[in-house]
Amino acid sequence: MEQYIIEGGTPLKGEVTISGAKNAALGIIAGAIMTDEDVLIENIPNVNDINVMLEAISEIGAEVDRIDAHTVRINGGSIKTLDVKDEYMRRIRASYYFIGALLGRYHNACVPLPGGCEIGARPIDQHIKGFRAMGAKIDISGGSLYAKAESLNGAHIYFDMVTVGATINVMLAATLAPGKTIIENAAREPHIVDVANFLNSMGANIKGAGTDIIRIKGVNKLHGTEYSIIPDQIEAGTFMCMAAATRGDILIKNVIPKHLESITAKLLEMGNEVMEFDDEVRVIGAASQRHTDIKTLPYPGFPTDMQPQITVALSLAEGISVVTESIFENRFKYVDELIRMGASIRVEGNVAVICGIKTFTGAAISVPDLRAGAALVTAALQAKGRSALEGIGFIKRGYEDFDKKIASLGGKITYISD
Ligand code: EPZ
Repeated sequence: MEQYIIEGGTPLKGEVTISGAKNAALGIIAGAIMTDEDVLIENIPNVNDINVMLEAISEIGAEVDRIDAHTVRINGGSIKTLDVKDEYMRRIRASYYFIGALLGRYHNACVPLPGGCEIGARPIDQHIKGFRAMGAKIDISGGSLYAKAESLNGAHIYFDMVTVGATINVMLAATLAPGKTIIENAAREPHIVDVANFLNSMGANIKGAGTDIIRIKGVNKLHGTEYSIIPDQIEAGTFMCMAAATRGDILIKNVIPKHLESITAKLLEMGNEVMEFDDEVRVIGAASQRHTDIKTLPYPGFPTDMQPQITVALSLAEGISVVTESIFENRFKYVDELIRMGASIRVEGNVAVICGIKTFTGAAISVPDLRAGAALVTAALQAKGRSALEGIGFIKRGYEDFDKKIASLGGKITYISD
């Protein structure tokens, strides 16, 4: 079993460098197999979900040359099967990007259907609706999704809700679909823009990424490219909340401050200091912080992936804060663990009402999912006494060298594995 043992009570201070964006990298790796030429990707985060995705493309025959921890060369010219069998893929949601990439390139794909997960039901009906509109036949049997198209054509697609996954997936397929695809009510997250920029660097014709209407003119083929992934908005936001919660002072390097605006705004409302530089932000946690209300929304709203981390910070702010989760129905599971650490939180449906406390107390804690894990580590770093966190495999799926980065900021964290 793997654990983090954390001795709390030390404000985190110093500098930390943010890795490449996991959720951009997942879409980009899928897109990389849409050409027979070499694709060089830099600033890949060295985290488990990415390593699983790279293994999966290698399993179907792509050449994957890991040049160093953060650089990979991919060649999709040797793909020999369009059936992504890898059982482990079921556990990473982004396996659905193989549908868009393989359907776009080969008009055929078979992918294990991603089920629900720790944070909610996570249906993919909007992805399917998009592919069907483009002329694909979709069947689901034996737990897998089969997608096939005699010919794939551009289409006008209106998403019923803002969805990151379906926006990227349809964008992947539409890149090589003759004609014009228009995606309305598209997601605007920074990683949507990054995947679009990457595909454009391969010769795609995608306009409007970052707005709610994306227009794609299908091209005949894509070519090789060299591309560097943007910094991870959520990893940066996590360290911002750590500075606030531990009353620390962290200079967070290799970030795009614009992507962090919703988080910055809330930390400022709470009374913290946030300084923005070209590609850095510095957060100084105020000794006394104020309550505020937050509702998670698609970008540029407050990200659902930051909801647990800000809830930890708000638990230590004076007064009553209300956090409303509007994206995933099951994202307050970690609250029971926080309550065991002394938090005063009542959850009703998708709303958490938080009454500020002075300090957490250390406890034995079980991590329920990736972002909740980062939040519980933050609570343990602030807590009086020692905490032992199990289930940290979730954290390693999305945070690179989390314990090492925290230790370099003075956090007393030890990784143990038996
Ligand atoms: C992406 O998930 C991210 N994952 C998630 O990050 C993130 O929480 C989420 O976007 C929201 O920002 C990846 O990029 C791999 P959605 P995704 O489609 O694409 C509903 C993390 O911690 N919906 O934007 O699966 C859905 O149920 C992870 O890094 C449908 O109903 O999310 C949800 O309520 C966790 N039908 C909402 O839309 C669909 O076909 C938004 O989901 C698709 C989505």
